[in-house]
Amino acid sequence: AAGEREERKHPATFGEIGDAIAACRDCAIATCGTRAVAGEGKVDAALMIVGEQPGDHEGKAGRPFIGPAGQMLDEHLERAGIDRAAAYVTNAVKHFKFSWRGKRRLHQSPTAKEIDTCRWWLEAERAVVKPRVVVALGASAARGLIGKTVSVSQARGKAIPLEDGSELWVTVHPSYLLRLDGKARVEQAALFANDLAAIRARLT
Ligand code: URA
Repeated sequence: AAGEREERKHPATFGEIGDAIAACRDCAIATCGTRAVAGEGKVDAALMIVGEQPGDHEGKAGRPFIGPAGQMLDEHLERAGIDRAAAYVTNAVKHFKFSWRGKRRLHQSPTAKEIDTCRWWLEAERAVVKPRVVVALGASAARGLIGKTVSVSQARGKAIPLEDGSELWVTVHPSYLLRLDGKARVEQAALFANDLAAIRARLT
């Protein structure tokens, strides 16, 4: 149970974390038959990028941010001069939460409780990687990192100190940009680019 788990030490390696996440059944999402998606990237990355939860593509492939949101993220990272290969990329929740619409699996947002239950794994990853800079893509990711709900519009654009001495930057989720059209998408993409430029400046 989650209570007992708090007493346990985090696994020490990516391999152990990945195996343990795959076996985790601490919330209802994990029991619905999707594949767990642990983070991936450099073991000693200075930058950790945290999303909400794997999507349909990610749940099938077992890798984070490889579908449409991942492509949007990759384009913006490249434009900002942030090397994804040098970062560690993960999610606040390690399983895809969905409902069936015909044969399609439709994204459902994780609850605060599900994010809080999965937070132990995010902390396990942080304890191994020890990033200096952590980016939360959207409010679910921010909750996974600080354990409370924040408004992205109020939290973005500044460093928020985390208890281990690293700094958190909150920005929007790339899926949010994908849901916008026309002028709104251009405006929000520019704000996202601003946030990434500020984060890039903290990495040198
Ligand atoms: N959205 C996320 O938040 N994470 C992924 O890995 C993919 C889509």
